Amino acid sequence: MKLRIAIAVIAVASLAGCQPAEAPAPEAQADAAGLTRLPVSLNAAMVGMVDHSADYLFALGNGDLPRNDNDWHLVTSSAYEMMLGGAVIQVPGSGQFDREWTANPEWQTLARDLTTIGAQALALSESKSTDVDEWRKVGDRLIQNCLACHAKFKPEIPSDGVLRGSTERQSRGISIFGY
Ligand code: HEC
Repeated sequence: MKLRIAIAVIAVASLAGCQPAEAPAPEAQADAAGLTRLPVSLNAAMVGMVDHSADYLFALGNGDLPRNDNDWHLVTSSAYEMMLGGAVIQVPGSGQFDREWTANPEWQTLARDLTTIGAQALALSESKSTDVDEWRKVGDRLIQNCLACHAKFKPEIPSDGVLRGSTERQSRGISIFGY
C-alpha cells in the first residue's frame, strides 16, 4: 500500500509540472537480516532484470505501443522489474567485481535512480498512457542512467560472461509486443 501512495505522489507531482527527478524515490528497507548477497552475479541481474525490463519501457517511447491488456501487463511488470532491479543491484552477487562496485557511493546513487525512473514508468503504465513524448522522456532518463553507469563501471568483457539476448526483432523494427 505504501508503494501505491508513493507512486500516487509522483503522479500528482508530475501533473503539477514538477520535475519528476525531484520526486522522492520509494526506498527499499532492509529487514534485520538484510540481503547481503544475490544468488547470481550483477552481470546476470543486469541482463535478466534491468536490460529485460528496459526493452519494454523503451518500446513505448519509440512509438511501439501496447495493443491489449496483456501488453499493458508486460509494461507494468517491467516498470516493477526496473524498480526492483534498482534495489537488487545495490547488493553484490557472485561476480568478481560485484563487491567493489556496490561499495561505491556513485554506484548506489545510480542504482537508486533506476528505481525512481521505474516508478515514473509505473505511473504512466498504470494510467495506460499512450503519450509517446512522456514515454520518451522516461526512456531518455533511463538511457542516460544506463550510459552513466556503464561509462564508469562496465568492463569491456562481461565479468560473468552473461550477454544481452537477441534484439533481432527490435532491430528489424518488429513490435516487442505479441503477434
Ligand atoms: C549502477 C550501475 C549500472 C546501471 C545503472 C546500469 N548498468 Fe548495465 N551493467 C553495469 C555493469 C557494471 C555491467 C557489467 C557487469 C559484469 O560484467 O559483471 C553491466 C552490464 C550490462 C549488460 C550486460 C553486458 C552486455 O553488454 O551485454 C547489459 C545488457 C546492461 N548492463 C544493460 C543495462 C541497461 C539497459 C541499463 C539501464 C536501463 C543498465 N544496464 C544500467 C552497470 C550498470
